[in-house]
Amino acid sequence: MGHNLLKGKRGIIFGALDSNSIAWQVALKAHEEGAIFTLSNAPVAMRMGAINDLAKTTGSEVIGADATSIEDLENLFKQSMDVLGGKIDFVLHSIGMSLNVRKNNPYTDLNYDFYHKTMDISAMSLHRTLQTAMKLDAINEWGSVVALTYIAAQRVFPDYNEMADAKSLLESISRSFGYHYGKAKKVRINTISQSPTKTTAGSGVKGFNSFFNYADAMSPLGNAPSDTCANYCISMFSDLTRMVTMQNLYHDGGFSFTGISGDVMENFGDK
Ligand SMILES: NC(=O)c1ccc[n+]([C@@H]2O[C@H](COP(=O)([O-])OP(=O)(O)OC[C@H]3O[C@@H](n4cnc5c(N)ncnc54)[C@H](O)[C@@H]3O)[C@@H](O)[C@H]2O)c1
Repeated sequence: MGHNLLKGKRGIIFGALDSNSIAWQVALKAHEEGAIFTLSNAPVAMRMGAINDLAKTTGSEVIGADATSIEDLENLFKQSMDVLGGKIDFVLHSIGMSLNVRKNNPYTDLNYDFYHKTMDISAMSLHRTLQTAMKLDAINEWGSVVALTYIAAQRVFPDYNEMADAKSLLESISRSFGYHYGKAKKVRINTISQSPTKTTAGSGVKGFNSFFNYADAMSPLGNAPSDTCANYCISMFSDLTRMVTMQNLYHDGGFSFTGISGDVMENFGDK
């Protein structure tokens, strides 16, 4: 049951690929909380078709946009304002992709064309989205933008590869743009740092399942699932968090501040 937390708000949700996607859960909750929004993804991902089921369930229109194309993003904002009947109140950036990760290239032997692509898709796309929105004056005052990130931006998780660099840049863009957009239009920008989650992007990381179990054993509350991540996103889109901006917010069951847990210690008994 919803609480009308987003009643009257208009949004754009990037990144719902299938029902495992974090963005998929955010769309379901945003709908439940009374928002109207458009769904967007890269044209190539949309060919898989699942996003159309989500659109049907949530009464949303799907507008394709490659997050590396300014033209696509301009079109997305213009069309969304048209379809939704006014300026945008919230944006979810739930976009990540690394060909080096996909092809198992280790961090010390990266393909630099892929590295560029990773940065472009997974980090600069946030800047591009915000700059496009600002130029079009497409986001209402007190609007809220959330991008999803991972703690590998702060600490080393070797198999997360160059995505760690992309997340560091993403978080920095959210702070820097958060300052400028906050000053100019009171738009707030935050990142949510999510637990490992079994999605297409997550499972692509080498050794994901063991890592998922390790993080679960380390976190006092266990790994945070995608539906509670969606709840957190909704609260960040709502007026209840109006003065929160330029933050990296951990949604990880306590993982980020745990040095060691009893469950993990059990695996390292006397030898
Ligand atoms: N799954 C995890 O363990 C985890 C943990 C922390 C943060 N995150 C982040 O959450 C976000 C969502 O990922 P997810 O886990 O839901 O996986 P997902 O694979 O369902 O979502 C990633 C999305 O990025 C989209 N995308 C890729 N290239 C694009 C492009 N050029 N233009 C537009 N969209 C593009 C994909 O089509 C897909 O919908 C990502 O930023 C990811 O890094 C995931």
